[in-house]
Amino acid sequence: MREALPTGHMQARPESGMSDLPIWPCHNGSYLLTGLDRLAVMTSLPATLCHLNGEYVPLDQAKVSVLDRGFIFGDGIYDVVPVYERKLFRFAQHMQRLARSLAKVRMANPHTGDEWLQLCRRLIAAQPADDQLIYIQVTRGVTVRNHAMPKAIAPTVFAMSNPLMLPSARELAEGVACVSAQDFRWARGDIKSISLLGNVLARQISADAGAVETVMFRDGWLTEASASNVWLVRAGQVIGVPKSQWVLEGIRFDLLRELCEQEGIGYDLRPVSQDEARQADELLLSSASKEVLPVTRLDDAPVGSGRPGPVFARLHAAYQRAKATQLV
Ligand SMILES: Cc1ncc(COP(=O)(O)O)c(C=O)c1O
Repeated sequence: MREALPTGHMQARPESGMSDLPIWPCHNGSYLLTGLDRLAVMTSLPATLCHLNGEYVPLDQAKVSVLDRGFIFGDGIYDVVPVYERKLFRFAQHMQRLARSLAKVRMANPHTGDEWLQLCRRLIAAQPADDQLIYIQVTRGVTVRNHAMPKAIAPTVFAMSNPLMLPSARELAEGVACVSAQDFRWARGDIKSISLLGNVLARQISADAGAVETVMFRDGWLTEASASNVWLVRAGQVIGVPKSQWVLEGIRFDLLRELCEQEGIGYDLRPVSQDEARQADELLLSSASKEVLPVTRLDDAPVGSGRPGPVFARLHAAYQRAKATQLV
C-alpha cells in the first residue's frame, strides 16, 4: 500500500498499438496522434467543436470567466458518456446519474433529456472519430466569490467529444498493473463532482509507479480506483462493493449485473476487505473508457494466476455484444 508518492517503478504499462490510433484535428490544421501516453506531449489544443452555454465553438477558442464557480471552487458536476459507431451507449443511465449529481449539489438540470441528446449528437457529428467519449460539465455559474450558494444565476454548461481510447489489445491480453493506496478523498464520492483533486493525487500514485490505476482502501475496506470501479472474482462469482457515499456509482455497476445475469455468473455487492481483494482469483476495473479491464498485478504481487481470467473473458465478450444493442 502506498502512503506517499513512490519513487520506484511497478511493471511498465504495456505499449498501446501505434497504427490504429484516432487523430485529433488542431485549429492550425495539423493533426495530433492521441493516446493516453501521448497526451503529455501534446502542444496545441484540439479544435473540434464543443458546446459552451448554447453555442458551438472550436474547443481551443472556448472561454469561461475566471469568476466561474467551477474555476474558483470546483463547484460543479460532470458526466462521461461513451459513443460507439457515432451512437451513445446507455445514454439514459448517464442522464439519470447527471440528474442525481445535480440534485445532490442543489443545482437545476439546465436541459431536458431530449435537449441533452440533441446537444451530444451535434458534437458527435463534428468529431472525426466514430468511437468517442462525450464529456459534459455543469458548474453553478459566474458570480462574485462567496462560498454560499448564490440564488438564481445561470449555470455554465460545457460539453465536448474526444476520440474514445479503449484499452490496447495487449492490455486486454496480458492485464494491467495497479498499485494500492489509502483512500484519502472526501466522504461524498457518490457525487460526480468536478472537484477531483483527491482523485488526481490518487491517480498520480499509480502514474508515478508506471501502473494503470490506484486501487483504494478506506480503513482496510475496498472503495474504488481513482477513475474506475473495482471488481473481484472469487469462486466464479463477481463481487463489487455496495453503492454508498464512498464510491461513485459507475454506469457499469448495473451493466455488469445485467451481463452476469446473461452469462449465468453470480454477482454480489458487499464489503470487501483488503485481504480478500489481495486473494482474489481475478481483479477487474470498469469505467466508460476502460469497459472491463483485467488487473493482473497489484503492488508487488500477481493477482490470481497472474493472467486475465475466464470470468473476465466472458464479461468482456458479453460487453462487446452489449455495445451493439444499447445505443441511441
Ligand atoms: C471515481 C470513479 N469511480 C468509478 C468510475 C466509473 O464510472 P463509469 O462506469 O460510469 O465510467 C469513474 C469514472 O470516471 C470514476 O471517476
